[in-house]
Amino acid sequence: MPDIESLLTEKRTFKPDPAFVKQANWNRRKAAELRELGEKHPKRFWAKMAKENVTWFSPWKKVLDWKPPFAKWFVGAKTNVSYNCLDRHLDGPRRNKAAIIWEGEPGDVRTLTFAQLHREVCKFANVLKSQGVKKGDRVALYMPMIPELAIAMLACTRIGAPHNIVFGGFSAEALRDRIEDAGAVAVVTADAGWRRGKPLPLKDAVDNAIEGVESVRSVVVVKRCGPEVPMRAGRDHWWHELMADASAKCPPAKLDAEHPLFILYTSGTTGKPKGILHTTGGYLTHVTTTAKAIFDLKDEDVYWCTADIGWITGHSYVVYGILANGTTSLMYEGAPTTPGPDRFWDIIERHGVSIFYTAPTAIRTFIRLGDEHPKSHDLTSLRLLGTVGEPINPEAWMWYHRVIGGKRCPIVDTWWQTETGGIMITPLPGAVDTKPGSATLTFPGVKAAILSEEGNVVKPPNGGLLAIQQPWPGMLRGIWGDPKRYRETYWSKWKNPKDTYFAGDGAHKDKQGYFWIMGRVDDVMNVSGHRIGTMEVESALVSHAKVAEAAVVGRPDEITGTAIVAFVTPIGGTEAGDTLVAELRRQVTKEIGAMAKPADIRFTDALPKTRSGKIMRRLLRDIASGKETAGDTSTLEDLSVLAKLRESDEG
Ligand code: WT7
Repeated sequence: MPDIESLLTEKRTFKPDPAFVKQANWNRRKAAELRELGEKHPKRFWAKMAKENVTWFSPWKKVLDWKPPFAKWFVGAKTNVSYNCLDRHLDGPRRNKAAIIWEGEPGDVRTLTFAQLHREVCKFANVLKSQGVKKGDRVALYMPMIPELAIAMLACTRIGAPHNIVFGGFSAEALRDRIEDAGAVAVVTADAGWRRGKPLPLKDAVDNAIEGVESVRSVVVVKRCGPEVPMRAGRDHWWHELMADASAKCPPAKLDAEHPLFILYTSGTTGKPKGILHTTGGYLTHVTTTAKAIFDLKDEDVYWCTADIGWITGHSYVVYGILANGTTSLMYEGAPTTPGPDRFWDIIERHGVSIFYTAPTAIRTFIRLGDEHPKSHDLTSLRLLGTVGEPINPEAWMWYHRVIGGKRCPIVDTWWQTETGGIMITPLPGAVDTKPGSATLTFPGVKAAILSEEGNVVKPPNGGLLAIQQPWPGMLRGIWGDPKRYRETYWSKWKNPKDTYFAGDGAHKDKQGYFWIMGRVDDVMNVSGHRIGTMEVESALVSHAKVAEAAVVGRPDEITGTAIVAFVTPIGGTEAGDTLVAELRRQVTKEIGAMAKPADIRFTDALPKTRSGKIMRRLLRDIASGKETAGDTSTLEDLSVLAKLRESDEG
């Protein structure tokens, strides 16, 4: 059986800058030592990290209890996440340092020092208690990107009430599903949040979502935008009113390392969303260690991850992994292009951001908007860049390196998932050479391989299925309420060995052992017996000077099995015409080969995306094959895009 063919060859290599290496938290020597320890004794490696990076109230009896697919890390140990993010920084110089610098979309700015954030968290923890929330109860958070979201999360962790954050862009229906499935007893929300200059209502959606949901006893509402919202007596309370009377004393609960920390829902290819469960000690160890090593966090840094806290990236690397290291985390409420296309660069300049972590889709948007916007700002405060969420095409990587990083900042392309909790495959910025488009190597203590459908190791440079071959501390502990689905989705792809985790991504390793992620395996096309990753075709298209963004899907074809359809957003409008079609076909032929040449190329000024920026290929596949859109479109950012794409087909 042919493995997924890997056709993209990227030869550029970037060595860490000696000046960066000199100051790196993990330089080449330290990284090599830890990598060796991680390979030979993964449990010893993670135990060392847990001791160095996390404060425990009492020690573990056993590092790992592994009964595949169920893991317990740091068995018997006790800790508290909010203690690690706040209290332990209060006795030294970090006490009055900014923990959160927040900027609202209208331009309002708030700074909370570690001491101030601690105070707010303790007060809100007491508010939760006053609302009857007990250890183990689930609390749903449906909020804009405002400091109260971080405060509410940390307050939940303080009393051991797992949070269930639902991204503010989800509909009332999606919210209801998630509240019901988690059995939340309380909901924290806001009247609305600012998005593209308008208030995005949230409380209204909560009212609709919890109508008839018996588990929910209490709703706490932050006043953010000011519109009138109906408040139901006995159930709904204003945040500011409850906080006014709350005590600022709340000792952290001493929680078991395996105490549930949060549930976060993620969509699968089929069925209802899966409630991914993460627990306390292992998760905290994983995110704190990776953040320090990969983002090279220092006390002087202003770190900015642009992800919404409603996604795993925000949980792990806006809040927990960053604050646990005592680092200042910048939070921004609004849209990247409000009021103008330079908003991000303006924020970086004004706040002196030194570490910037964003998604390839954002980078491609900025490329399209034009270099003049970043170039009109002083970005010299930046010293490290990161990407996450999807494969980054080498040309976007090079633009990021050149235009945003001024050729001086290392780029960490970090591969991980909601399920992995923390980063798994990544460069270490002071120790690993980077190649545009490659997430490079596993983080020490993580073991991954490329396997065939049968479970054999695929020889480089051929592609196959990405597998994780041993448990890691940040791993999901299950799907909420559904152990069977947990086992089937992640641990049943290969019969032997039965402790191999199926990530659902296609990838290949090059001869140097570098990982190249090729996208979800359900996006892999089989064209004339050649299995080709959609990402590789997209990357070829995007490398054309006139292309801003491209999405490629397969449609059934009588002769070739699958024919490739490309949806392309050209720079400078959709009136691009036949010459560009011909040029793009040639480009793909040149970059990859004639078998990867798209049968159809359609120009569009927007692609259907989820609110987290992922292209919804499922919808494009339907359009490409002329089908009515079946299935769920509730996560689509802009529904009108679908209608436009269909028109472009008819026109
Ligand atoms: C999927 C996980 C945890 C990050 C936010 C998304 C894709 C993630 C990369 C990367 C190539 C990536 C994978 C993965 N992905 N990072 N650096 N290079 N692909 O979390 O929604 O759980 O999605 O995102 O396909 O399986 P998620």
